[in-house]
Amino acid sequence: MSRIVYVNGEFVPEEEAKVSVFDRGFLFADAVYEVTSVLRGRLIDNAAHLARLARSLDEIGLESPLPVADITAIQQELVDRNRLDEGVIYLQVSRGAADRDFVFPEDAEPTLVMFTQVKELENDPKARSGIRVISTPDIRWGRCDIKTTALLAACLAKQAASQAGVDDAWFVADGLVTEGSSNNAFILAPDGTLITRQLGSEILPGITRQVVLALCDETNLRFEERPFSLDEAWAASEAFVTSASSFVYPVVAIDGKAIGDGRPGPVATRLRELYIAKASAD
Ligand code: PDD
Repeated sequence: MSRIVYVNGEFVPEEEAKVSVFDRGFLFADAVYEVTSVLRGRLIDNAAHLARLARSLDEIGLESPLPVADITAIQQELVDRNRLDEGVIYLQVSRGAADRDFVFPEDAEPTLVMFTQVKELENDPKARSGIRVISTPDIRWGRCDIKTTALLAACLAKQAASQAGVDDAWFVADGLVTEGSSNNAFILAPDGTLITRQLGSEILPGITRQVVLALCDETNLRFEERPFSLDEAWAASEAFVTSASSFVYPVVAIDGKAIGDGRPGPVATRLRELYIAKASAD
């Protein structure tokens, strides 16, 4: 069934949506994006996603095409027009169309595109089975804290995982796990401490990560924000990833080594339940 998508001020059927071949998002990945989950037709953690969008725009010197409050109204209208009950809404802002030149154009209008995707989130089978990941060298650039559409390294990592017959990949730099290809990585150390890498230019400041850490605080689950090694990950009692499109997925194997007993662990399962309860209540 055809969706209605949003392009620069208009709601149009997806077959009619057009962006210029000169769009800098297309030519240079000169664009930033956000993915917000939708549960029972409601946007989850969207204020935080839009705050991060504002930061990404600022970091690349691009002015928001619309006030944030207007963006929320468009997102909600798109969800309503597509009768999206469960899934995600994707939003992208590029620096717009201009003759190809690396230097920023002076008079280009930013391109704003949004579309919805249906996805089972609450009863996602991967949450029940857990996912298997491989590690892969982190070949990305030095500003992974900016949510840009320059995702070729993530595509190569996911493709390598797919070819290895597993679900996803964890990036590793200098023997330390940075994050997943499109999610933040956590391990539960054998002493019961949850560990996830501290914020910095090496990882995206995940919104789901932030909410999950707040839930750890509320439930007195001890955590540390610090780099952890691949050796620590292989020896962990549990592992999991967080993102808007997965919430919390338990990780049951890393590089073919079973994590814990090779099944979704109680801490990951509990944090997923708490996250969904919070998202449903907000
Ligand atoms: N990815 N790290 C990376 C590299 C990501 O691409 C993402 C999100 C995250 C998790 O961030 P959040 O919790 O705010 O979704 C971490 C989205 C879902 C995507 O590209 O589809």
